[in-house]
This record gives sequence, C-alpha cells and structure tokens, in this order.
Amino acid sequence: MLRIAPTSKPQLQPGEGGWLDGKVAIITGGASGIGASTVHLFHEHGANVVIADVQDNLGQEIADKLGKNVSYIHCDVTNEDDICNRIDTTVAKHGQLDIMYNNAGIIDCPSPLGRILDTKKSDLERTISVNLVGSFLGAKHAARVMVPQRKGCILFTSAATAIAGISIVGTGMSSEMSESDKSQAEDALSNLVGNLKGQILKAEDVARAALYLASDEANYISGLNLLVDGGYSVVNPNMVNIFSAFMG
Ligand SMILES: NC(=O)c1ccc[n+]([C@@H]2O[C@H](COP(=O)([O-])OP(=O)(O)OC[C@H]3O[C@@H](n4cnc5c(N)ncnc54)[C@H](O)[C@@H]3O)[C@@H](O)[C@H]2O)c1
Repeated sequence: MLRIAPTSKPQLQPGEGGWLDGKVAIITGGASGIGASTVHLFHEHGANVVIADVQDNLGQEIADKLGKNVSYIHCDVTNEDDICNRIDTTVAKHGQLDIMYNNAGIIDCPSPLGRILDTKKSDLERTISVNLVGSFLGAKHAARVMVPQRKGCILFTSAATAIAGISIVGTGMSSEMSESDKSQAEDALSNLVGNLKGQILKAEDVARAALYLASDEANYISGLNLLVDGGYSVVNPNMVNIFSAFMG
C-alpha cells in the first residue's frame, strides 16, 4: 500500500462509528471474492464505495443490495480511458477520493499450478495487462487527484506467492481452477498453512487488512507490503514438518 500523506483527522475510538466514516473508496474487482468482501466491510464502516468491475450483473447486484452509499460502474482496468473517467466521475459526484483499492486480477492460463512450458506468451501478457498495468493505471490516476488533495490511500492486492510458495484464498478465481489444480491447492491449504492452527485464509481476512490500511488507524503506514498469510512465509511449515519427522 502507498499513503500519499497522513490525514489530520483524529483517530476513531471503538464504538464511535465506522473506521471509514465519510470516506470515498473505489474498489476494482469489487464484484467478486476479496473485492466484494471489501465492498461490504468498507460500507459497513461508513464509506461511500464505488465498485469498478467488468462483471456488470454481479457488481450491480451488490450495489442494489447495499443501497445508496454503494454504486457500480463498468470499468476495464486495462483501459486507461475507463480508469480515468471512473475516477473523475467519482470525484465529481463525491467531491473527493480517499481510497483507491487496485484489486482486480485474473489467472489467465490453462493451469495456474502448471509448468512454464505449458504457459503461452499471450496468457502471461493478458495477466500482466490486468494485474500489473491495471494497478499502475489505477495508482496513476488516483495520485492525479490525491496529490492536490494532499491526502489519500492507494492499496493493491498482490499475492503471497511473490514472496514464498503458495497461499490461496477460496474465491471466484480459485473456482476457475481445474479439479486437479483444486485438489493440489486444497492439499496446500491443509498441509502448508501458516502457524495459525486450524485456520484457513478467507476473503474476509484480506478485506480486514484492507480496512485497517485504508483507515486513519494506519495513518503513518506507507509503502508497506502486508502479508496476510497466517505466518506461512516466515514460519516455513515445510521446515517444521521436516524437524517434526526427525524428532519423532
Ligand atoms: N484468491 C487467491 O488465492 C489469490 C491469490 C493471490 C492473489 N490474488 C489476487 O487477489 C485479487 C482478487 O482476486 P479474487 O481472489 O478475489 O478473485 P475473483 O476472481 O473472485 O475477483 C477478481 C475480480 O476482478 C475482476 N476483473 C477481472 N478482470 C478485470 C478487468 N480487466 N477490469 C476490472 N475488473 C476485472 C473480476 O471480474 C472479479 O470480479 C486479484 O488481484 C488476485 O490476483 C488472489
């Protein structure tokens, strides 16, 4: 996450209201999975939320269910005009943009857990276009309005796999996996989770981290790569398993 500048708003105390009261947030990929969970949580905490996605029916359904503080707009994050217009429309409507959450992403290859030899160049290019270029465009145009405001928070959803091995959240994305990949992923989840025994990572866990980072509670946090992986990347459960086998 990147924070443009600390805000001067005093910290909210528990029971005083939502952590995001009066803030305006755009969440890309907000129609499903981690994004949808975050839309619900940000709304619950008092934010005006704009869902920016390409799944029009799902996105509109969430907006209709949550009511007047949540809206849906079609936005393909790979299209700079789409991003630029959606941010400008949001600022025109709400007068500000406090949180830009670049969360939209895809796994565009036949077998996400497969070999490099089976992956086509076009698969990689499409994935980079949505996951990387889309996030760049979101950050660029959010900064265009946040820098003059002298405040704002830009969040990204990345993947723990950028640091170590595998850490999967059960969302629409993982449901697109083949049965064999799903079975491998389930094994990974049950055997290779972090040091939080019996807990499996859920979309809501990532949404809660986003809520904290987007709130004034995280006022002086910027440039942080926060891993929501139950300690997996630090503890290295493989080593624990190996030692346990040796020690009996
Ligand atoms: N689920 C996991 O295990 C996992 C692991 C690592 C990283 N991630 C990342 O988490 C983020 C959220 O994924 P998720 O697991 O909730 O998956 P998901 O498929 O449930 O949600 C992704 C959302 O992004 C939207 N989207 C796709 N392409 C888009 C585009 N061009 N423009 C706008 N929206 C677009 C989809 O319509 C969908 O609503 C992604 O960036 C993904 O790369 C997820």
